[in-house]
Amino acid sequence: MYDFQTVLQRRGSNSVKWDVSEQELPLNLADMDFTTAPEIIAALQQKVASGVFGYEEIPPTYYQAVADWYEQEHGCRPDTDWLVFATGVVPALSSLVRRLSHPGDNIVVQPPVYNIFYHSIENNGRHTLANNLIYQTDHYEIDFPLLKQQLAQPLTTLMILCNPQNPSGQIWTYEQLKQIVTLCQQFQVTLISDEIHGDLTLNSQQYTPIFSLPDTLIQSTIALVSPSKTFNLAALHAASVIVPNAALRQQVLRALNNDELAEPNLTAVPGTIAAYTKGRPWLKALKQQLQANYQLVADYLQHNLPEIKLIHGGASYLLWLDCSAFKIPAAKLAQQLQESVGLLLSDGSLYRGNGADFLRLNMACPPAILKVALQRLVQGLLQIVSQK
Ligand SMILES: Cc1ncc(COP(=O)(O)O)c(C=O)c1O
Repeated sequence: MYDFQTVLQRRGSNSVKWDVSEQELPLNLADMDFTTAPEIIAALQQKVASGVFGYEEIPPTYYQAVADWYEQEHGCRPDTDWLVFATGVVPALSSLVRRLSHPGDNIVVQPPVYNIFYHSIENNGRHTLANNLIYQTDHYEIDFPLLKQQLAQPLTTLMILCNPQNPSGQIWTYEQLKQIVTLCQQFQVTLISDEIHGDLTLNSQQYTPIFSLPDTLIQSTIALVSPSKTFNLAALHAASVIVPNAALRQQVLRALNNDELAEPNLTAVPGTIAAYTKGRPWLKALKQQLQANYQLVADYLQHNLPEIKLIHGGASYLLWLDCSAFKIPAAKLAQQLQESVGLLLSDGSLYRGNGADFLRLNMACPPAILKVALQRLVQGLLQIVSQK
């Protein structure tokens, strides 16, 4: 019923990902080469057809749709009073960094992690405190003794968690989350949990929203969620900030209003409501396609280049390719793949931690594109290694 096979022509469409030369194939940036759910397109068409695009407020039906989605999709319902609209996860994150910490403060993150976290921290004059994840052949573990020391430092005021993790796709367990939150609470550190990849768990796995933990543990937590990754709606510029504690919520509201991030554009409200109320069948079909794509990549690499170890923690369409066997830094691999076979993958060192051994590949594209990309990857890597 839904089409995940047609190769879309995205060149010349203001796409950041596809604004590359004709022979280049971009599997780097995190948006999908699929059209969004037809139910969302219909809602946006209806909005545009109204022709009235004045200033908008957030209606109760928006908050209802977000809360219903979390209840039905993730088995826990945030109180609608906890929800605050924002024009994106990253803008909200940067705004919260400015409001909830001071220049010179420490902010804990867990590399390798979404590179824009570093921009939000360092471009605002704060220090990144790296709680590097411990790589264990096919997944990452959290260094809790180090985390405790880092949270205890007098200048540490915030921690930014990524659950599920970009780039590894790892889903943190309930017990791990409980331990993180308990430590944050012990040292009065506010925890911001970026859960933008949370809807994209594959193979019937579940992720645990931070606000589903016991009430006593979530009073200093803030979750950031959005339909933008789930339904390929990045340009919708709509996100929700979930803040169980009323006093902290006031701070969040002030931050977002101060930075003028609280008003929706014409697509944000109808797009989000349609996604959360009508998007479930499309998401189910998308996940099946992503699982098939994962298998395609796994089989192809196994047969043609088993030196690459494929890491996928269970969520998102991002694959984390362990290229350590080649003993060439990822920055060089990424650059040479671009130059030799026109394949664009993300250089893992952008995410810091042990990322210099990895390339990140976005598999959310029609299989026809993925097959070409895999051929180029193998051809390019063999060429690079033979020239070493
Ligand atoms: C972990 C994470 N947070 C946030 C974003 C972007 O969020 P937004 O487009 O709502 O600013 C991304 C995009 O890749 C991401 O991976």
